[in-house]
Amino acid sequence: MKKTKSSESSGSRETFLIFIVVACGIMAILSVNLFNHPTSDPSDANVGESTSPDQQRPLPEKAPSVALIDVPLSTGTEPLEKLFVQSGCAVCHTIPGIAPALGREGPRLVLGTNGPLRLADPQYQGTATTVREYVQESILNPGVYVVPGYSDRVMPRWYGKRLNALALDRMAEYLENVKE
Ligand code: HEC
Repeated sequence: MKKTKSSESSGSRETFLIFIVVACGIMAILSVNLFNHPTSDPSDANVGESTSPDQQRPLPEKAPSVALIDVPLSTGTEPLEKLFVQSGCAVCHTIPGIAPALGREGPRLVLGTNGPLRLADPQYQGTATTVREYVQESILNPGVYVVPGYSDRVMPRWYGKRLNALALDRMAEYLENVKE
């Protein structure tokens, strides 16, 4: 196939542009990696990443160095359904009355029925004396009692850091009353 002169020259212009964009990208990545400190502008990292201006999303102001693990999951004032969904419980647990909560990684949360059985189980070594306390303990410290048939270490251990007292209280109040 014979190329016309014009397509050849636009081809080489394209190659040149691509080269420039790639080079900028590599330089940006290198400078971010080598000189990464809290004051470096996060927008540097985006050079060469997007090819059209419409694809550019608004850049966040200086990205603070906060790990996801420290971010609260909720304010605690959300409607209950949102509270359970936003906190991730719905992914692993089925909760009667909470429509989106259909998870199967963990036990069905019917603590009004199962709570008293857990407390009466000779294997139970926790400190809870009421179902409400058992629910709170299960969220804050899931390893204290592992429900038979399920594995330990599946439920996250960090809820104590990411749920405030209001969220914890509202969840426990709802869950302790679910009976089947
Ligand atoms: C990644 C999956 C996962 C997530 C997310 C999760 N759990 Fe669990 N949960 C489990 C598993 C597995 C168990 C059973 C093992 C155990 O007892 O630790 C469990 C156990 C429990 C128990 C004890 C249940 C019983 O019948 O005794 C409660 C209460 C509970 N979870 C509440 C919650 C709440 C509330 C949330 C959200 C704030 C949540 N879980 C998030 C997996 C999860």
